[in-house]
Amino acid sequence: MGQSPVITTPHMSMPRLGLGTWPLKGAEGQAAVESALGLGYRHVDTAEMYGNEVEVGAAIRASGVARGDIFLTTKVWFDKPDGPRFRAAALACLDRLATPYVDLLLVHWPSPQLDLPSVLEALEALRQGGQARAVGVSNFPPGLLRQALNLKITPLACLQVEHHVLLDQSALLSITGPAGMVLTSYTPLGKGKAAEGPEIASIAARHGVTPAQVALAYLLAKGDVSAIPKAASPTRQKENLGALDVTLTAADIAALDALPKGRRLVDPDFAPDWAA
Ligand SMILES: NC(=O)c1ccc[n+]([C@@H]2O[C@H](COP(=O)([O-])OP(=O)(O)OC[C@H]3O[C@@H](n4cnc5c(N)ncnc54)[C@H](OP(=O)(O)O)[C@@H]3O)[C@@H](O)[C@H]2O)c1
Repeated sequence: MGQSPVITTPHMSMPRLGLGTWPLKGAEGQAAVESALGLGYRHVDTAEMYGNEVEVGAAIRASGVARGDIFLTTKVWFDKPDGPRFRAAALACLDRLATPYVDLLLVHWPSPQLDLPSVLEALEALRQGGQARAVGVSNFPPGLLRQALNLKITPLACLQVEHHVLLDQSALLSITGPAGMVLTSYTPLGKGKAAEGPEIASIAARHGVTPAQVALAYLLAKGDVSAIPKAASPTRQKENLGALDVTLTAADIAALDALPKGRRLVDPDFAPDWAA
């Protein structure tokens, strides 16, 4: 099994498959990140809110993999809705990760108080300063994403949103593709639920792979899309990395496209109006 292939856009090069780290924490969390890096993962997703940046940074150093070979994403929580507070929080992320830069810095959620131009200016200053190699947003609905792109304050390289076989994100993909952005699929296994059901099981059986591998391969077949499944055990980490070796047929993809796609699993009370 090789290392993850990379998506290259005008703004960044991101390994297509990464490790999600929520809610990995403590010694167990550090061990899980180290194990993933040992298996060939080169993309790790964390966030200020996950409370595990210290462990993620320690795992990267302990792994023996050069920092420059790892694509590291972090995100600043929505309680910093303006530029100065956002910048201070981003710098604190770097301190906890004990790294001079992240490969991707994201606005974790749009707050109702979000001062969009001011936060985009902070992202651009961090990008110019080299503390973030690329910048982007997470959990932005289509209208807000368009607004952020139209401001042209900073090149947005990535949108991270919930995306799996049971949730359609074609409205967002129709924006990210032409904008040269990667859409990173979070909760790509639907917390395990996206790998259930007879259609996935029969496709998996036909290819001699697992349903989770089919669920991930379906996402990765969609152009500039990456996925960050979380798995604590080396066995499942290896299984998920194996999705990169699965090539679905057009008929498989059509069958998966036809599944109901209204199942949103991450919808906290502070979430935006997803249709806005
Ligand atoms: N930007 C955001 O607002 C946001 C929101 C949510 C998540 N995220 C990111 O996305 C990452 C992934 O999302 P998620 O953790 O919500 O969901 P997920 O990756 O869809 O699912 C994780 C769950 O699936 C299980 N699993 C892993 N591999 C499996 C396999 N091969 N077969 C069956 N089950 C498997 C895991 O269990 P074990 O670990 O026990 O194997 C865990 O319970 C997070 O860790 C985080 O980094 C971002």
